[in-house]
Amino acid sequence: MKKILLIVSGGIAAYRSLDLIREIKRRGDDVTCVLTKSATKFVQPLSFASLSQNKVYTDLFDIENESKIGHIKLSRDADLIVLAPATANILAKMVHGISDSLATSILLANNKPLLIAPSMNVKMWNNPATIENIKSLKNNGHIFVGPDDGEMACGEVGSGKMSKVEEIYKEISYLINSAPLKGKKALVTSGPTIEPIDPVRFISNRSSGKQGHAIASLLSKLGAETHLITGPVNIPYPDNVKVTEINTANEMLNACMSSLPVDISIFAAAVSDWKVVNQSSKKIKKSKNKNNDMNILLEQNPDILKTISENNKNRPELVVGFTLETENLIKSARSKMIKKSCDWIIANNHIQNNESVFDNDMNEVSFLTNKLEENWGLISKKNVAEKLCSKIIDYFDNAA
Ligand SMILES: Cc1cc2nc3c(=O)[nH]c(=O)nc-3n(C[C@H](O)[C@H](O)[C@H](O)COP(=O)(O)O)c2cc1C
Repeated sequence: MKKILLIVSGGIAAYRSLDLIREIKRRGDDVTCVLTKSATKFVQPLSFASLSQNKVYTDLFDIENESKIGHIKLSRDADLIVLAPATANILAKMVHGISDSLATSILLANNKPLLIAPSMNVKMWNNPATIENIKSLKNNGHIFVGPDDGEMACGEVGSGKMSKVEEIYKEISYLINSAPLKGKKALVTSGPTIEPIDPVRFISNRSSGKQGHAIASLLSKLGAETHLITGPVNIPYPDNVKVTEINTANEMLNACMSSLPVDISIFAAAVSDWKVVNQSSKKIKKSKNKNNDMNILLEQNPDILKTISENNKNRPELVVGFTLETENLIKSARSKMIKKSCDWIIANNHIQNNESVFDNDMNEVSFLTNKLEENWGLISKKNVAEKLCSKIIDYFDNAA
């Protein structure tokens, strides 16, 4: 049984922390709650005491509590501190080392991992002051979950909603359970590559990087030392992951080769199969031939998955490919797995539920090994990452 200290600050989502307490208790862990003065305006300490079955703390100058130096002892007794919901105010106070309440004093004197679940209006979240504060707290090693996008209590829409209780609990479980992939090194490729035609034009695809980034993020949370090699994307990089940015397939291959040896390699990037022969160093002018057309000659890019899979000197123990198909999904995926000598392949159709898989949060995939074929159905890209990582954990458990 692990001990969690839950700090609740004064946001509209404070009532949702009651469900978090129930989830923590349901999983068999112990939870003690600290509420800020503002939090008590939204929720009753009695509800927190009843659900947690522990005393609730609100006051820094509580004689009984402080006779045991409560603001220090509470964090020393815990395995993990969770701040949910975290207001813009308490995050700003943390950055500046302000300790004007029991909650802020605990946070300043804390010596345990801290998980933060922000919750605030979208304008508060996107305010440059908050952006700087979040950056600073992340740099100090604190771990964030959320916020999610959606409609807020105030009716505005955007990022700032506290993550779902199940998501917060998942992060808690990564932090309190022993990291099953500790000691393993992982390489993940993600996003598109871009192949220049001339200095201003290129060939690329619509890959968002969401799938590869979700996998890299989870591998890191599970304890693997993770290196993410990514083409240009518009999503934030996962925390605690080494990131190398590349543009072309050749650059991606070079970065992959330099990151070897690794134990686990996952190739989720949408690598361009071709590159332009003789790319122009100057912007190409409009064609002057009589048809007003223009030809671009393409040549094949190196096959990154095959090159790493067949690299006898430094082959990763586990090589996992992704393949996107528009027809004959399973047959094409299986033949690719053999042709490219990878251990597992994850196959997805380009169109799912009438939408492109690119830039979508959902993915319908099949998981193939030389013995197995599992259809995982239409699930979120985060769920694909979870299912894949649990296969990876099983693989190394069985190998041990
Ligand atoms: C009805 C209401 C809802 C609020 N909701 C939020 C919120 O969701 N997130 C937030 O950062 N602040 C919110 N605030 C502002 C905070 O309550 C205020 O900044 C307070 O000083 C936070 O104190 P604390 O950080 O010590 O708990 C809200 C205020 C009111 C009156």
